Amino acid sequence: MSALWTSEALVDAMGGRPIGTMPESISGISIDSRSLQPGDAFFAIKGEAMDGHDFATAAIKAGAGVLVVAEGKLPALGRLTAPMIVVQDVLAALEKLGVAARARSNAKIIAVTGSAGKTTTKEALRHVLSAVGKVHASAQSFNNHWGVPLTLARMPDDCDYAVFEIGMNHPGEIRPLVKMVRPHVAIVTLIAAAHLGFFRNLDEIAKAKAEIFEGIEPGGAALLNRDDARWKLLDKMARAAGVEHVFGFGENARSTYKLTKCELHADHSDITARIGGQDVIARIGAPGRHMVQNVLAVLGAVHLVEADVGKAAEALADLSAERGRGKRHVLRHPKGPITLIDESYNANPASMAAAMALLNATPVTDDGRRIAVLGDMLELGDHSAKLHADLAELIVGTGTNTVFLGGPEMRALADILPDEIKTEYRAGVEELKPLLLSTLKAGDVVMIKSSKGIGFSKLVEALLGKYPAEAAGTKQN
Ligand SMILES: Nc1ncnc2c1ncn2[C@@H]1O[C@H](COP(=O)(O)OP(=O)(O)OP(=O)(O)O)[C@@H](O)[C@H]1O
Ligand SMILES: [Mg+2]
Repeated sequence: MSALWTSEALVDAMGGRPIGTMPESISGISIDSRSLQPGDAFFAIKGEAMDGHDFATAAIKAGAGVLVVAEGKLPALGRLTAPMIVVQDVLAALEKLGVAARARSNAKIIAVTGSAGKTTTKEALRHVLSAVGKVHASAQSFNNHWGVPLTLARMPDDCDYAVFEIGMNHPGEIRPLVKMVRPHVAIVTLIAAAHLGFFRNLDEIAKAKAEIFEGIEPGGAALLNRDDARWKLLDKMARAAGVEHVFGFGENARSTYKLTKCELHADHSDITARIGGQDVIARIGAPGRHMVQNVLAVLGAVHLVEADVGKAAEALADLSAERGRGKRHVLRHPKGPITLIDESYNANPASMAAAMALLNATPVTDDGRRIAVLGDMLELGDHSAKLHADLAELIVGTGTNTVFLGGPEMRALADILPDEIKTEYRAGVEELKPLLLSTLKAGDVVMIKSSKGIGFSKLVEALLGKYPAEAAGTKQN
């Protein structure tokens, strides 16, 4: 068990008051007693629904080395005998520890924001940089006011690279987070109508993402999607924030990190890209044009942190689509295989387009069908009905001939799809389940996607429960 923080450094960083016999060191940081590892420090954070202080006993049972708790909660915790560090505010203490982790680090730091593809890009960076050094990166989509400080606080002092996902639903959220992270390179994957209900328009979303430039280290770089309609606005805002180097990635001829050849296949892509004056040829183990775009950002960032681009490019071959983000399963139907593309993690107009492109590029046998199972994209406010209806463009004439729709917002799409598309509309996931289970037959390719809140991952689970499955062309993760 290696030490992440000595107790002394923990107390120093947070300015807390230790009670009881402190361990020499702690090996990790946890805010969830269910996933806590023995030797971790447990931070009793108060979230929207839960208060970590209610799980202090569970954390001790799970082997917490020390608890970090709020002064005001101390009376209620009086019976606990575990070592504790008492602070005014536990989240603020975690932030302080995060800032201390950043201060002691010599790692090259990369931050990733954008309306889609943050986790995919972050995981791809984790994967390729692991080929050339020790990497620390955010868990899952830990990209908010607690996820970012938690990831920082978990950063070992000897890593060579660290990759942070930074997200937002509202203006003003990215600024304080990026100031803690202080990246050398900040990537904006793309600007799209995610959480548009909280913004007037896409320019406003771009401006909120542009807060990421305010935390870039002196001499650092902003890495922007040169093919994005809001490239210019972002470029201007990066320069206004004092960023010295602003680079583009994409297909556009003016991109610094430029795609020069691209062959898309059902389960991988082959590309050539101009990276730092070299032609880099790479196979990308996860399919989709959107993945190619993310990889251009990855290679650009690898170049900017002066890591070995050749080794990173080689590692792209074993990249895999993740659960909920394009992962493929072959379902063993008694009469032949069914391909399931699991895109159930989340959805907005940009990621719907990416996922429909994946489906449309997947070959089907003669009597197999391409079936899209689509659920509501949430948080789109007044634009919702139009953005749902606009999805028709991704379906009509593309080779997808069967569409199952669920959720109140999808009604707008159901209403306008032409007769040649076999369309079934149901209120929600429970109503869709029996329809899906009874309709699928051997040879079909089915893609499932919705916003998280609509819960289409349950449809994926139902299919995996009904049919034995194997992961197709992708690693289990
Ligand atoms: N470059 C891209 N352009 C468009 N869509 C993309 C891109 N990269 C990924 N996607 C799509 O977005 C979905 C979600 O990807 P990912 O989880 O990486 O996004 P995220 O930005 O981390 O989302 P969240 O804000 O929910 O954390 C993927 O399943 C895929 O459909
Ligand atoms: Mg994410």
